[in-house]
Amino acid sequence: MNERQRLLRVVICGSEDVGTPTLIDRLNDSPGARQTDEDREQAVFCQRVTANQHTWLAADARGERSVCGLVTAAIDADLAIVVVDLPTGVTAEIRRHSYIVSLLGVRRVLLAIAGMDRVEWSQEMFRSNEREYLDFAARIGLSRVACIPISLTHGDNLLEPGARMSWYSGPTMSEHIGQVDTTPGAAAMTSPHAAADRFEASVIWMHERPMLQGRSYLFQLGSHTRDVTVAPLKYSVNVNTLEHVATKKLEMNEVGVCGLDLSEPVPFAPYSQSRERGRFTLIDRIEHVPVGIGLLHFALRRSENVHWQALDVNKVARAALKSQKPCVVWFTGLSGAGKSTICNLLDKRLHAAGRHTYVLDGDNVRHGLNRDLGFTEADRVENIRRVAEVAHLMADAGLIVLVSFISPFRAERRMARGLMEQGEFIEVFVDTPIHVAEARDPKGLYKKARRGDLKNFTGVDSPYEVPEASEIRIDTTRVTPEQAVDSIISRLRSAGTVPS
Ligand code: ADX
Repeated sequence: MNERQRLLRVVICGSEDVGTPTLIDRLNDSPGARQTDEDREQAVFCQRVTANQHTWLAADARGERSVCGLVTAAIDADLAIVVVDLPTGVTAEIRRHSYIVSLLGVRRVLLAIAGMDRVEWSQEMFRSNEREYLDFAARIGLSRVACIPISLTHGDNLLEPGARMSWYSGPTMSEHIGQVDTTPGAAAMTSPHAAADRFEASVIWMHERPMLQGRSYLFQLGSHTRDVTVAPLKYSVNVNTLEHVATKKLEMNEVGVCGLDLSEPVPFAPYSQSRERGRFTLIDRIEHVPVGIGLLHFALRRSENVHWQALDVNKVARAALKSQKPCVVWFTGLSGAGKSTICNLLDKRLHAAGRHTYVLDGDNVRHGLNRDLGFTEADRVENIRRVAEVAHLMADAGLIVLVSFISPFRAERRMARGLMEQGEFIEVFVDTPIHVAEARDPKGLYKKARRGDLKNFTGVDSPYEVPEASEIRIDTTRVTPEQAVDSIISRLRSAGTVPS
C-alpha cells in the first residue's frame, strides 16, 4: 500500500470568509511542510497535516469563484469539513457545497461551527445551526454528520476541548478526524462493461457560458471521447429549497439533471457503483475547455429500443432519380443582412435549371415547427437543432436544401455541419456590418430593439458569432445579390451538385 492510499483525503468547504490556513495550521500539531497537490490539475490549496497520528491531505475548496475547485477536491475525499461561521450561520453557499459534496459521494461530514467566541459560546446558537444543517443534510442524503462547536481565534475544540463550552462533551476536530477511516480503494470491477449511448445524469456546471439544452459538447469518460447533445435538460436544483426548477439552461455553479445523447456508445457504470466509470467531463467544442462535471445515473433504454430503420429506397436512389447531388447550403448572418434575398434568388435559379430544392427560412419555420420557440439563447439553440435535423432529412430525401437562419452560434452551426456527409454542408456567411443591416431595417426590428421594445435582438443585446471558416463569405456592401448567387452556383458546380 503506498502512502497516497493511506492518506485521509479531506475537503474543506463552506463559508467564504473563514481562514482555512488558520484552521489547518491550528489542527496541525507538528507543523509540516505545505505543499500543493501535484496530482490534481486544478491548483487547489492542499496541505499535509499530521493531527492525532493521522496524516491527511486537506484541499481547500473555498475562495474559488466557481465550484470547480470544490469538485476537484471532493471527488475522492473521505471526509468533508464544512465550516459554518457564526453569527452568519448556514448560507446558500454552504448548502450548495454540501449538495455537491453529497452528489460526489462523500458520505462523512464534519460540520465545524466556528465563531463560537463571537456568540458568547452560546449553546443555543450552536444547537439551532446544528439542527438547521442536520435537517438539510438528511434531505440530501448526508447521514453521517458530526457537529463540533469551535473557535478559530481561541482554538477551542480543534486539538483540545474548549474550557468555555462545558456543555459540549463530544470529540474535538482532531479526535474526530482521527477516527475517520480512509475509503478503501475501489475494488477492480469484475462485471462485464455495459455500454450505452443515452443516459440520465447529474451535471455540475462550471463555466460562465451556461449549459444549454440542445447544445452539443464533447463528452469525456476515462479515455473515451464522444460528441454529446444535452436533451432534454430536465431541471436544475434550487440548493436552498432542493426544488426541481424547470429550465433550459444551467448557469455557472448550478447543478441539474439532464438526458445525454451520445454519438456512439461508451462503456460506463452508474456513478453510485463506480466513481471512475460513472463520472465524465463535458468540454466546450469551440474553446476546448472543461465546462461541466457529470455523474451518470443510468442508461436510457431508448437507445436499445429505437432503431434506425434501414430502408430499401435510400438517399442515393432518391438523388439519382432527381439526377442531382443533395446538399445543404446554410446561410448565416444578422437579421437584415440579406440572407433571404440571396437564398430566394438562388432557389429561383436552381429551380429554373431543373434542380429539386427546398428553402427553410427562419421566419417561416418559426410559424410552424418552431412556433413554441422565442429568442433566448436556449431557444435559438433548439431552433437550430431542429432545423438542422429537418435539413438532414431533406438532404436524405435527395433535395438541395437552402437554410436561411441567423444561426448566431458557432456550436450549433458546427453541430449542423456534423450531421451532413463530408462536402455536403456549404456554409455561406452573409457578411453585412450591423450599421448597414440596421440602416436597411426591412422589418423595423432594429428600431424596436434600440427602443428597448424587443429584447434579445441579435447584434443589439444578443450575440452573433462570426463564422471562422465558412465555405463562402459574401460582403453585401460590395456585391449584388445576383453576383452572390453566381459565386454560390459556381461553387455548387465545382462540387458536382449542379452540372457544369
Ligand atoms: S435564430 O437566431 O434562431 O437563427 P431565426 O433566423 O430563426 O433566428 O429568426 C430570425 C428572424 O426572427 C429575424 O429575421 C426577425 O425577423 C425575427 N426576430 C424577431 N425577434 C428577433 C430577435 N430578438 N432577434 C433576432 N431576430 C428576431
